[in-house]
Amino acid sequence: MNDFVYYTPTKVIFGRDKEDLVGDELKSRGAKKVLIHYGGGSVVRSGLLDRVKASLDASGISYVELGGVVPNPRLSLVYEGIELARREKVDHILAVGGGSVLDSSKAIGYGVPYDGDVWDFYDRKAQAKEILPVCDILTLAATGSEMSNSSVITKDEGGIKRGYSNDLGRPVFSILDPQLTTTLPPYQTKCGCTDIIMHTLERYFTSKGNMDLTDEIAKGLIKTVMKHARILLDDPENYDSRAEVMWAGSLSHNGLTGCGNGGFDFATHRLEHELSGMYDVAHGAGLAALWGSWARYVMDDCLWRFRKFATDVMDVPDQGNDHDIALKGIEKMEDFFRELGMPVSMSELGLNPSDEDIRTLAANCSKAVGGKIGAAKVLYEEDFVRIYHMAK
Ligand code: NZQ
Ligand code: ZN
Repeated sequence: MNDFVYYTPTKVIFGRDKEDLVGDELKSRGAKKVLIHYGGGSVVRSGLLDRVKASLDASGISYVELGGVVPNPRLSLVYEGIELARREKVDHILAVGGGSVLDSSKAIGYGVPYDGDVWDFYDRKAQAKEILPVCDILTLAATGSEMSNSSVITKDEGGIKRGYSNDLGRPVFSILDPQLTTTLPPYQTKCGCTDIIMHTLERYFTSKGNMDLTDEIAKGLIKTVMKHARILLDDPENYDSRAEVMWAGSLSHNGLTGCGNGGFDFATHRLEHELSGMYDVAHGAGLAALWGSWARYVMDDCLWRFRKFATDVMDVPDQGNDHDIALKGIEKMEDFFRELGMPVSMSELGLNPSDEDIRTLAANCSKAVGGKIGAAKVLYEEDFVRIYHMAK
């Protein structure tokens, strides 16, 4: 049992049609003018943007808009957003969309009060001291950005994708209406469920400690997402399943499933960020493509956790030696990813990186993580190279 800090200041407003409360909520916070930030058009087509504007109008809050956030959100649009927010003197940024829109909003929020280049934060050169408050209406259950302290941005030149974590980046409020996720393409729902499970797995596999309560929460979260992801395959309009997945998404990455176990591995995530930065693939699919290779590479250094995962979470019979049991747990998780139609290798993801590409991916990853990363097993650049090769 490790000491821990659990900090989740985000007010969550959850349920049907709660997006209509956004004007009131902003007004109660003293907002006068907001930047509405959104993506490639799904919120226009669904009518959500018009409803948001109607709610702001009714509460007497003025706004400016900036759409065009793409998956794996780009730094160039962040710069545009910073200029616009400064020029228009907005006091809040309202993200309406998925994780990419939220992350772009957080980056704009960091950039507005900062004298230097906002990329400094993502490039490990500076720490943000302030942020323009960010709030959101989430349309995709996946990243947990609606409660997390993270933001992940891609520099346009060279596809360099970097995350920045700071508690200032936790949204002041998040409106979660599961109905809004029913318009998602099935592929995005599946990528989202994978990402949600992965945020808990990243905390589960640790050699640093144990807390029974946290393990039980992790087990409950993973099993719940697996159950409802399966339901959504055939019944995407199922409100209850959308709601279960959406709330799991928030809890999976707000710190809850890491309390007391010292767990924060995140090697799979950082290896994936290089893939989605360089090849522009969906984050959840990239995670599924790499996770099994990472797990096989580190399992013997964290065997008791992999064994517990197999028997406790994946219901592998408690028979045979520890290694075989642990391996069966990994295989069952991969079987689930396959069931969702997720890739479990880079070739299934449509990628065939050369040896040189893998060297570049590993070197960039090493730079991004400051040389090493891992709680299940500490990994270095040469380990990254081997894992990418295993995942081919
Ligand atoms: O741009 P629009 O038109 O809105 O379309 C989006 C986009 O094409 C679409 N979409 C979203 N909600 C929809 C919808 N389409 C129909 N109906 C809806 N209700 O889905 C596509 C993907 O959206 P995106 O926001 O890119 O997906 P996601 O939420 O998975 O975000 C992925 C990004 O978040 C980062 C990832 O690396 C990636 O860049 N992450 C952020 C984290 C954080 N801030 O804590 C943690 C994660 O581990 C992750 O790294
Ligand atoms: Zn993720």
